[in-house]
Amino acid sequence: MARRKKVYEGKAKILYEGPEPGTLVQYFKDDATAFNAEKKDVIEGKGVLNNRLSEFFMDGLASAGVPTHFIKRINMREQLIRAVEIVPLEVIVRNRAAGSLSKRLGIEEGTPLPRPIVEFCYKDDKLGDPLVTEEHIIAFGWASQQDLDDMVALALRVNDFLTGVFHAVGIRLIDFKIEIGRIYDGDFQRLIIADEISPDSCRLWDVKTNQKLDKDVFRHDLGNLADAYTEVARRLGVLPRNATQMTKPTLIN
Ligand SMILES: Nc1ncnc2c1ncn2[C@@H]1O[C@H](COP(=O)(O)OP(=O)(O)OP(=O)(O)O)[C@@H](O)[C@H]1O
Ligand SMILES: [Mg+2]
Repeated sequence: MARRKKVYEGKAKILYEGPEPGTLVQYFKDDATAFNAEKKDVIEGKGVLNNRLSEFFMDGLASAGVPTHFIKRINMREQLIRAVEIVPLEVIVRNRAAGSLSKRLGIEEGTPLPRPIVEFCYKDDKLGDPLVTEEHIIAFGWASQQDLDDMVALALRVNDFLTGVFHAVGIRLIDFKIEIGRIYDGDFQRLIIADEISPDSCRLWDVKTNQKLDKDVFRHDLGNLADAYTEVARRLGVLPRNATQMTKPTLIN
């Protein structure tokens, strides 16, 4: 395999220079971290699952007309993506209360919200990715008002798409986080979905049993994380039926 120049190594992925200018190769590691990397482990197979799942969601979004950085999957762990300038914000969409929202506002996990709520956190590990308001974002120049409007619109389109896809396989999308990047076409700037969409960045509960099928399994030691992600992939038809030992018949969309 050709040697590639490493551009960035994060907690879950590595970015390498791509074959053409304006492209990168995104490599999915098996490392899992939570609580701002205070909890760490290696979960065998997680990278392979997230590479496939992110491909599946990004492909689906593209067919629904939502622009993403995804170009093509290269192998089990790598995908070719468009290089973007990442907006230094995590964009969170919440359909039901969970995690930090439940803690902050004292709302029981699982409580439906009156409408999807979009939140922004400033991407800074040292600060623990703090929640910020639109005022902060504009005042500090992380994004313009127009960018913010576009990001909210993109996030809600992703929410509609993912909610439907998961609902079809008996999974409730409680919340998720995306990252958004800028690409330039001469003077013209466009925002597209970047990073990954996977059970690392979503909260997913089984509709019937409320069983957690996302990174909370790792955060709170609720079982085997790779099994949970495998179940998500299998239900979505992303993994061949015989790829697991599971024997129960399941819905395939
Ligand atoms: N298309 C893209 N172009 C450029 N950078 C990207 C793109 N997609 C994702 N990234 C960045 O690549 C990195 C992916 O690595 P990873 O998710 O492991 O990082 P991380 O440990 O979460 O750290 P952080 O997100 O704080 O940088 C992230 O920094 C992400 O913002
Ligand atoms: Mg990340």
